Amino acid sequence: MSSGVRPTARNIEALMERRRRSLSGAYRLFYSRPLHIVRGQGTRLYDADGVEFLDAYNNVASVGHSHPRLVDALSRQAATLNTHTRYLGTEIVDYAEALLASVPAALDTLILTCTGSESNDLACRMARAATRADGFIVTEFAYHGTTSMVSGLSPSLGAGVPLAPDARTVPAPAPQEMNDGTVAAEFAEGVRGAIASLAGSGIRPAALIVDTVFSSDGLRPHPAGFLAPAVAAVREAGGIFIADEVQAGFGRTGEQMWGFARHDLVPDIVTMGKPMGGGHPIGGVVARSPVADAFAARGRYFNTFAGNPVSCAVGLTVLDIIRDEALLQNALDVGRAMADALRGLSSRHDAIAAVRAVGLFAAVQIRAAPGIPASRRTADIVDGLRDRRVLVGSTGADADVIKIRPPLPFSLDDLDVLLGAFDDVLTDRRSTSS
Ligand SMILES: Cc1ncc(COP(=O)(O)O)c(C=O)c1O
Repeated sequence: MSSGVRPTARNIEALMERRRRSLSGAYRLFYSRPLHIVRGQGTRLYDADGVEFLDAYNNVASVGHSHPRLVDALSRQAATLNTHTRYLGTEIVDYAEALLASVPAALDTLILTCTGSESNDLACRMARAATRADGFIVTEFAYHGTTSMVSGLSPSLGAGVPLAPDARTVPAPAPQEMNDGTVAAEFAEGVRGAIASLAGSGIRPAALIVDTVFSSDGLRPHPAGFLAPAVAAVREAGGIFIADEVQAGFGRTGEQMWGFARHDLVPDIVTMGKPMGGGHPIGGVVARSPVADAFAARGRYFNTFAGNPVSCAVGLTVLDIIRDEALLQNALDVGRAMADALRGLSSRHDAIAAVRAVGLFAAVQIRAAPGIPASRRTADIVDGLRDRRVLVGSTGADADVIKIRPPLPFSLDDLDVLLGAFDDVLTDRRSTSS
């Protein structure tokens, strides 16, 4: 090429320009050299040139990209019928029964939505109906979604999206894994402080809502059980506990289906999304019946798309695949190997300050280098991995945490590819220290 520009680079520029002209500036792309992905299979994604990438990031395609059973279930149901929840149908009831069988018995009522944001929005309305109170407590860098209500409960959206007036934040649980009760005590103390602050404004708490692995806060899964005293504190004050399982749910932790289970408590409401449909937009709210009934007594709920037969066939198939392919066990086994190996890398590479992990979710905390902020170094490593055809992301209040959260069929061979690339990036001084 006389210009030195590869055809693909030119195409990507052209596509980005079309996006800029037609789409909102609120959208953001990943990577300094954005990717044009055209196909996915299992744990692999392929760009417009047919280049293969290892997907160590996407939890939505939780059972793997384009899973043939999922595609088949979706197409068969789409070819048969797709209506809504105002006709009787077996699909939604089959799905409700299967999903409810995966949560503790007290959580006995399901409402379906299309996204995690809708699930949390609805959960907040239910909490208010059940408690007749208005206040919400969230962590300092929480993300719970996009609606008017839950964006006000998502401080990670930044100063331009103000916290709701009836919300208070608490510091995220401590990042260090201390097994002496400190994490639990400090987090509960924060919640009690938030309750007192709400009371100072004449507001009673409706709910404490947390992502049960605290993903956007930079992943805080340990020690198991630390959430219980904070949940007890909010219940004492008349509020309820909403477990946001949009990230942790459907087996991500490997131990059980739900992140709250490792805290040995039963939430009042559980909200679901992302992995629930393996890529198809399905969300849900599961609640204890007194909470669900208080909401239902106030009026009807109809959601045009949620709970349609195609979505339910897909949701049911996701549950079947998780069981039939033993994806929880895989998340546990490969996740443990991943955590060990990343800790091994940290002993050889100064750039890694800490590794936190649960199941197939790892957070690699990056430290600053002389003259280079940790956030810049993190972004460079993420870009460096992308250039080595491995996809990861970043998170945390200081954007200094590498987020590794692959589809659940991620194998030990996939892990080797990830580790080889990670080691290479950290060894390459251009990626980590310049
Ligand atoms: C913990 C958590 N809750 C809620 C949401 C919102 O889900 P959705 O993007 O499907 O609206 C997200 C999305 O990233 C999330 O991570």
